[in-house]
Amino acid sequence: MKIKVGIIGTGFVGPAHIEAVERTGCAEVVAVAGSNVEAAQRTARQYGIARAYGDYREMLQDPEIQCIHNCTPNHLHFSINRDIILAGKHVLSEKPLGTSRAETEELVRIAEEAGVVNGVCFNYRHYAMVQHLRAMIADGRLGTIRLIRGHYLQDWLSKDSDYNWRVHPQLGGRSRAVADIGSHWMDTVQFVTGQRITEVFADLATLLPTRRRAKQRAATFAETSAPDFEEVEVHTEDYATLLLRFDGGAVGTVTVSQITPGRKNHLVCEIDGSDASAMWDQEASERLWIGHRDGPNEIVMADPALIAASARPFLHYPGGHNQGWPDGLKNLMLRFYEAVREGAASTDTQSCGFATFAEGHRMQCVIDAMLESHARRQWVSVAYDA
Ligand SMILES: NC(=O)c1ccc[n+]([C@@H]2O[C@H](COP(=O)([O-])OP(=O)(O)OC[C@H]3O[C@@H](n4cnc5c(N)ncnc54)[C@H](O)[C@@H]3O)[C@@H](O)[C@H]2O)c1
Repeated sequence: MKIKVGIIGTGFVGPAHIEAVERTGCAEVVAVAGSNVEAAQRTARQYGIARAYGDYREMLQDPEIQCIHNCTPNHLHFSINRDIILAGKHVLSEKPLGTSRAETEELVRIAEEAGVVNGVCFNYRHYAMVQHLRAMIADGRLGTIRLIRGHYLQDWLSKDSDYNWRVHPQLGGRSRAVADIGSHWMDTVQFVTGQRITEVFADLATLLPTRRRAKQRAATFAETSAPDFEEVEVHTEDYATLLLRFDGGAVGTVTVSQITPGRKNHLVCEIDGSDASAMWDQEASERLWIGHRDGPNEIVMADPALIAASARPFLHYPGGHNQGWPDGLKNLMLRFYEAVREGAASTDTQSCGFATFAEGHRMQCVIDAMLESHARRQWVSVAYDA
C-alpha cells in the first residue's frame, strides 16, 4: 500500500515535492492545500490529485493522510508544523524549520512527544556524489580534514526589481541569504565531514537596500517585468561571508550570495584533508573532483560501478544518465518514507539518512550565532544547548 501524502503550498517547491513523491513509487499525493481553494484546485487538476483544500486545517482532519509536507513561506513553518504534529501526522518541513530558536526547540520537543517521523528538507546531502564523498571521508581517504571551504551563489535577486517575500524579516526570518541557501551548504559539509560548526564570525551585507515590488504578485525565481512598482526597504542580507570552526578541528569559510549574476544555483563544497582534497559542485553534480599532491588529480563520475556501496542506492540510473536537483529531493523522500514504514521517529540526525527536526533546530542555533556575530563584530560560539 502506498503511503498517503498531503502537500501544503502550491508555489515553486510544492509542485517539486508533488513530482518527487510520485517518483518514489512508494507514496502518493492524495490532497493539496493552498493559500486559497482556487490555487489548491489548480494544482490538484494539474497533477491529478484527488482532494484540494483552501485551508490546510481541513487537510489535517483527513484520516487517510499519513504524512504532510509543509511547503509554505518560512514564517508559517512553525505554526503549520505544530498543527501537523498535534494532528498526529508525520511531517516533512521545508527549511528553515522555523524562524527562531524558541520555535525550533518547541517543534523538536512536541515531535518527540507525539512520536511522529519528522524531517527537514536539506536535500543536497541526498545526491549520490555527496554520499560518496561522505563515505570517502569516513574511510579516511582524504586523511585528517583541515579546511572546509566553499560558496553558495545565486543571481535571482540581483536586480532591484527582483522581489520576493524572503526579503521581509516578518515573512522570511531575520536572516535571508544564509537561512535560505547558506544553511544548505552548512548542512551538506557537516553531513559529509561528520564535523559540526562550533564557532562563527559573520560579515553580512544588504547591497540592495531598496527593492521595487511589482504590484502584481510573482512566484519564486520568476522575472518581474510588470511596470507598476512600489519601493520596499530591505534589511535582510543579500550576501554573507562566514568564517567557521568545526568540532573535529577543521576551519573554514563560506560565501553566500543571492546577487551574483550568472551563478544560478552554485553550491560548491571543497574539503581539504591532509592526504587529498575534494570538490563537489551542485551544477555538475555527477562529478567529484579529487586533488592529490603527489599524483594526477581525479574526477570520479556518478556510476554505480565506481562509487561507494553506501552511495549506490542514491543512483537510479547507469553512469552518464545524469542526476540533478529533483533526484536529491526524491532520494530524501525515499529515506523519509522508509522511516515512516518502519515507524522510526529517530532524532539521531547524523546516523539517520535525512535531517530531522533536531538537525533543523541545530541549524537555527548556527544562524542565531551568525546574526549575533555580525551584530557584535566578533567570533561567537554556537549555543546548541542553551
Ligand atoms: N529545499 C529546497 O531546495 C528549497 C527550494 C525552494 C524553496 N524551499 C523552501 O520552500 C518554502 C516555500 O518556498 P517557495 O519558493 O515554494 O515559495 P513560493 O512563494 O513560490 O510558494 C509558497 C506557497 O505557499 C502558499 N501559501 C502561503 N500561505 C499558505 C497557507 N496558509 N496555506 C497553504 N499555502 C500557503 C503560497 O500561496 C505559495 O503558493 C520556503 O520555506 C523555502 O525556504 C526549499
